[in-house]
Amino acid sequence: ATERTLSIIKPDATRRNLTGKINAKFEEQGLRIVAQKRIKLTKEQAEGFYAVHKERPFFNDLVAFMITGPVVVQVLEGEGAVAKNREIMGATNPANAAPGTIRKEFAESIEANSVHGSDSAENAATEIAFFFKPEEIVG
Ligand code: CMP
Repeated sequence: ATERTLSIIKPDATRRNLTGKINAKFEEQGLRIVAQKRIKLTKEQAEGFYAVHKERPFFNDLVAFMITGPVVVQVLEGEGAVAKNREIMGATNPANAAPGTIRKEFAESIEANSVHGSDSAENAATEIAFFFKPEEIVG
């Protein structure tokens, strides 16, 4: 079925001017960018977005990293978009990411891993609503 997923191009990638190259991967592999904005997250937004990871040892560093520069938040649409985006991104740790994936080609480390993608359809709905009003998404 056609789905939507939330994607974030992270500060390590915007800093290296990789937004276009990353978007090309999504588009070449059949995902459509139906909403997109470049923003600077506040600490409160980063903490709120990653609240599920609050108890993890990497939480504070992750929040600090996510506010080091602009991010591009986007909604990707397509057949099985949640799973497809996870394939396009590759494993969280770039050391384990498959050839051709965004994280294999561009990520600097497990933290500075260039992109975030929703991990389930349910989380996608929550994450999309965190950043976008319905009328900002144009399918
Ligand atoms: P993301 O998909 O955005 O979800 C949580 C983020 O935490 C992850 O990508 C990484 O950027 C970051 N992170 C840092 N250390 C770890 C770790 N050990 N395991 C998982 N995620 C980590």
